[in-house]
Amino acid sequence: MQDLPVIATSDLSAHVGRTVTLRGWLYHKRSSGKLHFIELRDGFGTVQCVMAKGDVGDDVFSAADKVTQESVIEVSGEVKAHPKRAGVFEVAASGFRLLGPTVGEYPISPKEHGTDFLMDHRHLWLRSRRQHAILRVRHTIIQAIRDFFDGRGFTLVDAPIFTPNACEGTSTLFETDYHGDKAYLTQSGQLYMEAAAAAFGKAYCFGPTFRAEKSKTRRHLAEFWMVEPEVAFMDLDGDMDLAEDFLCFIVERVLERRRPELAVLERDVGKLEAVKKPFPRIRYDEAVALLNEARAEKRKAGESGVPDFPWGEDLGGEDETILSSRYDRPLMIHRYPAGVKAFYMKRDPADARLALCVDVLAPEGYGEVIGGGQREDDLATLERAIETHRLPPEAFRWYLDLRRYGTSPHAGFGLGVERSVAWICGLPHVRETIPFPRMLNRLAP
Ligand code: 4AD
Ligand code: MG
Repeated sequence: MQDLPVIATSDLSAHVGRTVTLRGWLYHKRSSGKLHFIELRDGFGTVQCVMAKGDVGDDVFSAADKVTQESVIEVSGEVKAHPKRAGVFEVAASGFRLLGPTVGEYPISPKEHGTDFLMDHRHLWLRSRRQHAILRVRHTIIQAIRDFFDGRGFTLVDAPIFTPNACEGTSTLFETDYHGDKAYLTQSGQLYMEAAAAAFGKAYCFGPTFRAEKSKTRRHLAEFWMVEPEVAFMDLDGDMDLAEDFLCFIVERVLERRRPELAVLERDVGKLEAVKKPFPRIRYDEAVALLNEARAEKRKAGESGVPDFPWGEDLGGEDETILSSRYDRPLMIHRYPAGVKAFYMKRDPADARLALCVDVLAPEGYGEVIGGGQREDDLATLERAIETHRLPPEAFRWYLDLRRYGTSPHAGFGLGVERSVAWICGLPHVRETIPFPRMLNRLAP
């Protein structure tokens, strides 16, 4: 057995007709009289190993019978191609060893478990087929993100995680003690990317970001990964063009490389194939008009207590769903009222009540996946905005230097990885889109 090549389940096709060894975990086993059907999982895939009593002898056969789910095993045998199903292989087992037994019964059985139970066992749950498929899609999305920006002349500039100041408003900060000083876990690397854009022209950061809002929705994590490009001399239209190309690139890449995983997730890939340029672009004003049309319809149908949408307010999750379900591809909503957006947003010169910003909503009700816009590049206007938002001016002194020493128009955005994974995989909740989620009520495992 020692002399046989040890291969991975992903390499079976190259070894048809040869006798090999595989190592992994026992995913599933069933027996019928003189045959065991052992499904071995090695992290790359699974393969069915068929063990006949006559081939391995009584001792090995009965040892294999006692092995429990998720024990570590080694199986040797000849690789056979499935006679009818292309790409499916089997191993006719001639040898078997138990390398690592389980201590007690594996907690996750094929029967139904509640989400809390599975989340408590997230460290084990990652082994199951669905979770494995989701995290492989996530991997491919992250790789696509890097390839997109790396292929377009962007320089990766990592933003710090400990920060002295807020970026997205003070209400959602995790505060920590930094050698006796207050520091916050970063909400966004954007302010640092503005420094990077002035140094490199095109820059992006990609890292974990933190939000402390006490929100329990299916779209909120306390810790999530965000990629943030920032480009000098780009305006809001350029920003929307970039976001559009970017999302098309990601979706195309997943369709190219992760069809089997999307099939495991039973994702309707037709919905993803529809994600093509151009995306609809509507103003906040138009969005409000559409929402009011929907509300008028409800009133006409006899529903009471349906007021018009109050102009000036931010769109809620439900409003976003109503709007995005009108289209088969991501929807860009631009020029929100400045009052609901962060201090750094540039005002629309055509209407000072509005900010030159954009939110990109994923189709099918998956919500906002991108937020961004053009930044205020005028020193005096930005100083006033910091004041009206009651932000501590000393913390932003360095940021204002970027307007003092060679200011230029610039824009960028942030894409949340987990919401993108939820949309592309078709998952109702973000908790399964990250290996170890951090949520309002969850810090473990
Ligand atoms: O819209 P947000 O707050 O934008 C910013 O932070 C900007 N400074 C980005 C920039 O312009 N460089 O967040 C951007 C994206 C959202 O669209 C969403 O996808 C994701 O980050 N996001 C979250 N994802 C999971 N859980 C949360 N609590 C999230 N908050 C934001
Ligand atoms: Mg946003």
